[in-house]
Amino acid sequence: MSFNPSSFLDEISPQLREKVGNSKVLVAVSGGVDSTTAAALAYKILGENVIPVMIDTGFLRENEAVSVKEMTKEVIPNLVIEDQSEFFLSSLEGLKDAEEKRKKFRDLFYETISSLARKYGTNMMIQGTIAADWVETQGGIKTQHNVLVQLGINTESTWGFTVVEPLADLYKNEVRELARYLGLPPEISERQPFPGPGLLIRVVGEVKIEKLMVERRANTVVEKALSRKGLSQYFAVVFDSDSEEDKQKSAEVGTRVRVYKARATGVKGDVRSYGHIASVEGDLNYDALRQDVSKLSKYDVTHVMYLVKQRDQGKYSVGIRAVHTEDFMTADVPELGLSELFSIAEEIMKDPLVKEVLFDVTSKPPATIELE
Ligand code: XMP
Repeated sequence: MSFNPSSFLDEISPQLREKVGNSKVLVAVSGGVDSTTAAALAYKILGENVIPVMIDTGFLRENEAVSVKEMTKEVIPNLVIEDQSEFFLSSLEGLKDAEEKRKKFRDLFYETISSLARKYGTNMMIQGTIAADWVETQGGIKTQHNVLVQLGINTESTWGFTVVEPLADLYKNEVRELARYLGLPPEISERQPFPGPGLLIRVVGEVKIEKLMVERRANTVVEKALSRKGLSQYFAVVFDSDSEEDKQKSAEVGTRVRVYKARATGVKGDVRSYGHIASVEGDLNYDALRQDVSKLSKYDVTHVMYLVKQRDQGKYSVGIRAVHTEDFMTADVPELGLSELFSIAEEIMKDPLVKEVLFDVTSKPPATIELE
């Protein structure tokens, strides 16, 4: 049955009013379509009792906080931006493991919400968790930062507030329909998803401030270059360039294969996998690359990247990630042309810290869309 935003609103309005009553309620807005739609919905139903907050975690994209405030000013007036970047950056710097980073981020995030709730005199928050978030988290693929209740975490005893999730049964395409219905501008309703932990999970491996700066700049280049191609999601990732040539894998694939120390998340046979990034070289032939992915993912490899451009200088590798997907549970890689990839790489390599630029050619499965 197709989704009807008007019936959804009729159904959810009394439920939300009953849960929240006349209390004030905090709504966490990340600027992504889910949380922004949850905030617009809450504001429509609960009005002035809603306190929408956007936490600047230090892992936002360039100009994110300012542009989200501007884009949402009609449907979410009074968005409060809370700058917590020092707290997040200093607490996360030096962490390496993907799940450790995610769990730490989640704890810092809800500690912050807890102190904001006290500041604004409420013990309740609304968040935009959707079905795909808890399905993947419960399935053990990765710990999404906004999944708590479904993991049996008691938010009341842990952080002192209850959580309301009006979009928990919806999938992304339904949330977009609801966003349009609520009058959110296309810059939000059609916006590519941006994960709550932000650039933290795109700074692959050890969190370093310098690496985050490289990531933020590269991400801007990739978003600008690929914004008009109708892709579901497109961004940059950064990882340390340490890698070793693997003779056996090179022989099997028929081109030089390097395996990086950096590890990234994948999903093989519906089970989480945390393997290595590998690169391949040579002609850009997507049929051959798909075969390379299938051969290499039998090993401890979760993301295969095609080497676009390389030099001696620099210490970071930047991966271009782009996918087509309907439901974000599976995804395909678009066949971007070599000249396009090359010009993106040249722009990214204006940064002297970047040694090479690669294009992630791994579908989901065996990779996930994000690298961590
Ligand atoms: P994966 O990497 O699991 O991503 O294939 C599927 C979709 O979920 C987004 N994503 C997240 N969104 N908090 C979020 O709000 C998270 O922790 C998180 N992790 C992944 C990802 O960007 C993609 O759209």
